[in-house]
Parts: sequence; C-alpha cells; structure tokens
Amino acid sequence: MTVRHFLADDDVTPAEQAEILTLAGELKKDPYREKTFAGPQSVAVLFDKTSTRTRFSFDAGIAALGGNPIVVDTGSSQMGKGETLQDTGAVLSRFVSMIIWRTFAQSNLEQMAETATVPIINALTDDMHPCQILADLFTCVEHLTDNHTPRELAGKKAIYLGDGANNMANSYMLGFATAGMDMTICAPAGFQPEQPFVDRARAIGRSTGATITVTDDVAAVAGQDVVITDTWVSMGQENDGKDRTTPFLPYRVTEEMMDTAGKDAIFLHCLPAYRGNEVTAGVIDGPRSRVFDEAENRLHAQKALMVWLAAHQPGA
Ligand code: CP
Ligand code: NVA
Repeated sequence: MTVRHFLADDDVTPAEQAEILTLAGELKKDPYREKTFAGPQSVAVLFDKTSTRTRFSFDAGIAALGGNPIVVDTGSSQMGKGETLQDTGAVLSRFVSMIIWRTFAQSNLEQMAETATVPIINALTDDMHPCQILADLFTCVEHLTDNHTPRELAGKKAIYLGDGANNMANSYMLGFATAGMDMTICAPAGFQPEQPFVDRARAIGRSTGATITVTDDVAAVAGQDVVITDTWVSMGQENDGKDRTTPFLPYRVTEEMMDTAGKDAIFLHCLPAYRGNEVTAGVIDGPRSRVFDEAENRLHAQKALMVWLAAHQPGA
C-alpha cells in the first residue's frame, strides 16, 4: 500500500491543489465542519528548527479537526542521536494518524517516508516550504480574483525578490507553476535558484501555462500582481560564511518599487520579517501588504490539506 504524502509542492496535481484551496475557503467560513481526527486521533508535529506560525497553526488546526496534536521539539526526543529515521517513521506510525515535520534536508522526510504508514507533511525543509505556498495561493485567491476560485489564478503574475536560492523561492516556482501563475525569481548572482528546481517548475508550466523567469533585474517588478520577499538569512544559514546583506540591497522591497508593480498589486512575506532589510516598514505595514491574512491562512490551508490528504489515502 502506497501512502500519499505531501513532501513537495508538486506532490499534488493542479486539479488537486485547486481542490485543497477551495476546501481552505470553505473551512475558513465553517471552521469546525470537518472532524478528520475525531477520536481523538493524535498527530505528531515535529520541529528540528524554530517556529511560531507553523507550530500554532498546526496545533490549533489539528484541535479544530477533533484531534490531539503532539508537538515536539525534536531536541528533546531521541531523534538525531543515531536512531534511524526509518525506525522513527515506523514507530510514530503506531501512535499517530499523520506526521508533520520541519527539518533540514529534504532527504530526511524521504527517509522517514520509507517506513511511515501514515501521511507525512513537509512543514519546511532547506529545499521547500509547501504549506506556506498553499496559504499564499489561498491569499491570492482571496485578494486577486473576482469570484474567489483557484481557477482564476491562472495567468496572474508574481515576483519574488531576494534570496532566490532558498526554500521559499523553490516552493514559489513549483507551487505557483502548479496554479498556472507566472513566477519570476529576481535575485543577485550567486543567489539564484538551482537549475533542477527551475527545470521542474518549467515542466509543470508546460501543462498549466505558467512561465518561470529568473533574472537579476528589479525592473521585472513592473506590472506584477504579487510582490514577495523573504529573509536574507534562512534558518541554518546564519554562519554559512556568505555576505547575506550587500548583494541583496538592490532587492529590498520599497514603496518606490511597489509603485512600479500593477496598480492593485499586493505584497506577501511568509514571516518572520526583518524591516529595513528585505522590506521597508512602509511596505509591510502599508496598504498593499496582506501579510497577516497570509499568516492566518496557514491555519485554513493546512486544515484543508490534512482533511484532503486523509481522504486521499489508498482505501480511504
Ligand atoms: N512562515 C513560517 O513558517 O513561520 P514560522 O517559522 O514562524 O513557522
Ligand atoms: N526561508 C526562511 C523561511 C522561514 C519561514 C527560512 O527557512 O528560515
């Protein structure tokens, strides 16, 4: 029996992603409708890295679905001390109905998935942050479309500026391409995405109509519907020996830059944000910012994902 996991943005098809986003909208209106984890069944929520939004949104979301979240900072567990991830996956599967995990290497998730008999959800790795992308797409549905349907995202244009080689940039390419949105990554030399992620997103775009552009020219902000940035120093990169300030200075999102985007353009940031670095206070605290709706939408999008994933297991 093959378990269906959500380890990467493109683990769901365009049609499936649209189903999850539609369900997110329904659950935002009717938060306690679904009781996927009634029993209560338990769900493991594991953190190898720090978190505010992911931790609270999964904990609250699992409770709202009738379940019992077991939230663990893995430093206080036996994980990482030599026990294999395959053993951990097999053991946790005897206790919980789903595993949510924020970790470093994407391959950690894949190793646990070798033995887990319950679905695993990627709560951020060095490579991707697909739950954040579902929340961002749902925020775009709310703020950019007339009829609030995921289908209307196709053809919208988004640009991400800053560290184009990080987890968010990869996930924007994969997840937004799945939604049919044109995605531009605008980043300095040395911080542009690895080619395999670009190729993978372009392959998705061949079926959804999305285009993927990589540039170092901030003039690409012109006419965009969504302007996005993220921290210049992701978790785990604090001491990587790179200058993570000077190369990014031209890519700071400013009011002047936002004025070159589409007239109804919105600003997104997954948070935590560092005002004065990747974005000015005037933008993130200004009228075009949707960052707090975006943060709230983690809850609705992840609940939808868990409900959907539970219903799409073999034999479910
Ligand atoms: N955006 C996000 O994942 O935030 P946390 O690191 O606080 O979970
Ligand atoms: N790129 C950031 C995202 C935080 C939610 C990081 O990995 O630290």
